Order: sequence, then C-alpha cells, then structure tokens
Amino acid sequence: MLKLKNEEQIRGIRESCRLLSGLFAELRPLVREGVSTRDLDEYTRTFILKAGGRPAFLGYNGYPASLCVSVNEEVIHGIPGPRKVKSGDIVGLDCGIDLGGYFSDAAITVPVGKVSAEIEALLRTTRECLEKALAAIRVGGRIHDISRAVYGHARSRGYGIVRQWCGHGVGFSPHEDPQVPNYVGAGPNPRIVPGMVLAIEPMINLGGDDVETLDDDWTVVTADGKPSAHFEHTVAILPEGPEVLTSW
Ligand code: MF3
Ligand code: CO
Repeated sequence: MLKLKNEEQIRGIRESCRLLSGLFAELRPLVREGVSTRDLDEYTRTFILKAGGRPAFLGYNGYPASLCVSVNEEVIHGIPGPRKVKSGDIVGLDCGIDLGGYFSDAAITVPVGKVSAEIEALLRTTRECLEKALAAIRVGGRIHDISRAVYGHARSRGYGIVRQWCGHGVGFSPHEDPQVPNYVGAGPNPRIVPGMVLAIEPMINLGGDDVETLDDDWTVVTADGKPSAHFEHTVAILPEGPEVLTSW
C-alpha cells in the first residue's frame, strides 16, 4: 500500500535525513586503511543515539547492526565485524535513522587509498546513475522513468545492474511501497505523485548482473566476485517537484 506523506510528515522525514547526512559527513573520513567495519558501525550507533534517534536497521528483520558495510564484491547488507579495510578496497556504507518515527535512508561507496582506474570509473558511473535517476523524476511521470534512467546509463557503460534488490518508498518505516527497480521490468509502475518519499539506490556491478546471498543470510555478493558500487538518496516528491533530502 502506498502511504503518502503530508507536509508535516515530510518535515519530520527531512529532519531525519538531515541527521543522517551529518552522520555521513563524519563517517566518510573514518573510512581509511586499518579501520574495522565494526568501528564504523559502533561510531554510527553512538552518533545516532546521542542525537536522540534510533538506528533504523538495527533489529530490522533481525539485522544485527546499525550500519550495513559492504566491501568490494559485497553489494549490500554486509554485516560489520573485525575485518579491517585496506588500500584499494571500496566500502559501501548504508544507513537509516528513525527520528521520532520518521525514517531516512542513504548510502555511499567510499574508495580506500588508491583504487584502480576501473573502480574509479565504476564509482563515478554509479553516482551518475543516481543523478540521472533524480533528474528523471516528474510529478505525473512514472516510477519506471527512474528505473530506465539508471539502467540506460549503467548499460551504456557496459556494467551489470542488480535486479534482485530495489529502491523503495521510505518515511514511516525502512521499506515501503512502491518498489523502485533499477531496470524496467513487468512489475507495478505507479504514477509519481506529491507526498511520495522514495529511496533511490542504483547498485551497479563491474561484471555481470547476478548476485547471491551468503550463508549469513544477509550479505549480498556479486556472483562473479567482481566489485559493486551503491549510492542512495532519500527524495520527497513535492507538488513543485522532487527535493533530495539526504546529502553526503
Ligand atoms: N538500506 C537498505 C535498503 O536500502 C536497507 C537495509 S535493511 C537492513 O534497502 F535490514 F539491512 F537493515
Ligand atoms: Co534503501
């Protein structure tokens, strides 16, 4: 069911997104050689609790941490642990905050030290996919306009596009309708209307489209073991057009 948000509710979600953006500004410089993925999760939990929020992912469907940390071939939902990142790695950080019942969601992929030119291009293109997705949003348009923008750009560069996982509505809970796929399929294609709040999140692979879930039941990895990038914003649809609520 589509749950549209009124102005006051969008203000609440905007506040949640502002807090999340502040967290990302602090997290990014911490992603350096030698930091453990658990360090990043602990920083995140402390930051959110101190600000009066609640880590939205912690305990969500049993997820055990406040931050998803996905390294290299891990696409999404990596579980933080003792692993230390090293130069040449790319580190996906995905987080959501519940602030007074209003939910935000954003993600970035951060290079550690010097990464290969091929990986730099993957990160750049994935960011561009998100920019093109945002630019494709029109009140009265359709969700698949977003999907088409992501898919078209990623394919034009020869990358794989994750199909099993999608963007989504957000705001009253971490995941709501509608689904926002990164490819145009046969699924529902609702009209974009004021009051929607969407998490738009291209997941783009250096190799093929296919992904698998590890035995921990969470970590999604590329089937071919090649690196994957992920960027995500929360966007409110206002009568005058989209407002990107998160920043990194
Ligand atoms: N941010 C993820 C998404 O965009 C949600 C993570 S769900 C959790 O869909 F269970 F891992 F917390
Ligand atoms: Co999301």
